[in-house]
Amino acid sequence: MADKKTDVIRLLKNAGSSPISGQEIGDKLGISRAMVSKYIKNIKGEGYEIRSSPKIGHTLISSPDILIPDEIKKGLKTNIIGKEIIYYDNVESTNSIAKDIALKKPNGTIVLAETQNKGRGRRGNEWESLPGGLWFSIILKPDIPLEHASKVTLIAGLAVAKVIQEYGIDAKIKWPNDILINGNKVSGILTELNAELDGINYIILGIGINVNVNIQALKDDVKATSTSIKSETGKRTDRTAFFKNILQELEQQYIRFEAQQFAGIIDDWTKLSNTIGKEVTIIDPTGTIEGKAIGISENGALLVQNGSGIKEEVIAGHCRHKNG
Ligand code: BTN
Repeated sequence: MADKKTDVIRLLKNAGSSPISGQEIGDKLGISRAMVSKYIKNIKGEGYEIRSSPKIGHTLISSPDILIPDEIKKGLKTNIIGKEIIYYDNVESTNSIAKDIALKKPNGTIVLAETQNKGRGRRGNEWESLPGGLWFSIILKPDIPLEHASKVTLIAGLAVAKVIQEYGIDAKIKWPNDILINGNKVSGILTELNAELDGINYIILGIGINVNVNIQALKDDVKATSTSIKSETGKRTDRTAFFKNILQELEQQYIRFEAQQFAGIIDDWTKLSNTIGKEVTIIDPTGTIEGKAIGISENGALLVQNGSGIKEEVIAGHCRHKNG
């Protein structure tokens, strides 16, 4: 049922503003006109606006803001990321699902959901995942030494910030991997690793982006420090097109990562970061580090120089900028 329904939607979309008859849809899909009518009714119930005129046919007037894997894959210029997309309307957490299936799935498989009811953030925080966002996890199996794995978060932040910039919005990366617009968070990244001593089994790269999320609907504690692309631009963004751009950019960065071209990645990351050059306080499991963020080390760690000139490499932690 689901596949034929997607096919009907595709045919309606391909027809654009010209009507397509039930007979033609039926012939193309090898189903009866009665079945076509059933699908059309079903599709209308999902929020698609379709003008149906007897003898003329069906014309798609508008589509709801939902993601369809086939539409995402159509014309997607990637060879690794998004070859397989597993889509859900609602899940607890795409990262958890991706972890469960990672060993059986090929490199680049994506788990994508319209909403999550137990979305996970860093440091055990909850991640609110309301309709209109992009909530997805990518299963990655890089052929790269274990010590480089943490750098995958750098490429993800870089890719997300770059694409948002392409939409004319000044997105910046706050170390380790928050994407901010005017100081408010639009995207977060949760990377989880499964490895043995001799190498990486898989990495789950979980990315959440508030694309068309209504920020007013978020819980009070996160509302004040969050934003969405819709809040910034005042209009809805086509999530399918946006997602394709993200996947394509991610693949470019992933290729560089696998080729271990870290100097270039660190350079590009630094240009889009709003942490470097700032006085920071970092809270990590071992304590608090204060000083000036002066760069990213070859290991992908943040370099912090304290008042006595001592440089520390910080791998992970919660970062506060002293002056915004
Ligand atoms: C953070 O900034 O704290 C990280 C947030 C990561 C959220 C994404 S949404 C898709 C994926 N699934 C999850 O449960 N979390 C990540």
